[in-house]
Amino acid sequence: MAVVSDPPYGIAFAHGGNDNSGIGKGRYATKFAKVAIEGDDRPFDPAPLIKAGEPCILWGANHFADRLPASAGWLIWDKRAASGHSNDFADCELAWTSIDGVARVFRHHWDGMMKASERGLPRVHPTQKPIVLMEWCSRMIPADRVILDPFMGSGTTGVACAKLGRRFIGIEIDEGYFEIACERIRKAYAQPDMFVETPRAPEPKQEAFL
Ligand SMILES: C[S@@+](CC[C@H](N)C(=O)[O-])C[C@H]1O[C@@H](n2cnc3c(N)ncnc32)[C@H](O)[C@@H]1O
Repeated sequence: MAVVSDPPYGIAFAHGGNDNSGIGKGRYATKFAKVAIEGDDRPFDPAPLIKAGEPCILWGANHFADRLPASAGWLIWDKRAASGHSNDFADCELAWTSIDGVARVFRHHWDGMMKASERGLPRVHPTQKPIVLMEWCSRMIPADRVILDPFMGSGTTGVACAKLGRRFIGIEIDEGYFEIACERIRKAYAQPDMFVETPRAPEPKQEAFL
């Protein structure tokens, strides 16, 4: 088992609705989406996810870096990707990894409506990650490991796993996001990437742990 996740950062995230992302208070693309992130109002403790010797990738880890072991293998997602444009939001996002390696950068423009991928698709979660980003980092996990995302939000890690032909387990506390995630993952397993052997397209099990 390996953890690839984007947990609540512990920053009391609240979308103001004044940026150019096309989403904002009351303007999300689905009836489920909402502004506050469950669990984000208190410091995040990564300790239960970190098991010695097990691969682990945690996005947003710059917000809880003081609770993580030292690592040389941080990942950087450059969201501006040479556009030269900055705004009030971060230019990049960081992931801590337990992977023994060097720091790596993924350059992929993702700035509100200006996106290098998934153009025209509505954002369904306020902190939704690009599928290609989660594919990129999931490829760093040995192929025989099941990938676990215990904070899957809209299920982007699961979609990436489906595209890569990887086995995936996802958990999400918010019932609305859980439904969205299951739907996105189901569609992705039904339409995997060409040239990737998909492991017996598992029927996603929908189990709510409420
Ligand atoms: C930063 S978001 C993940 C967004 C995701 N990367 C995406 O692309 O949609 C973190 C998610 O963790 C969920 N969450 C918070 N506490 C949780 C818990 N105790 N168990 C499961 N999910 C939880 C939140 O509801 C939120 O959707």
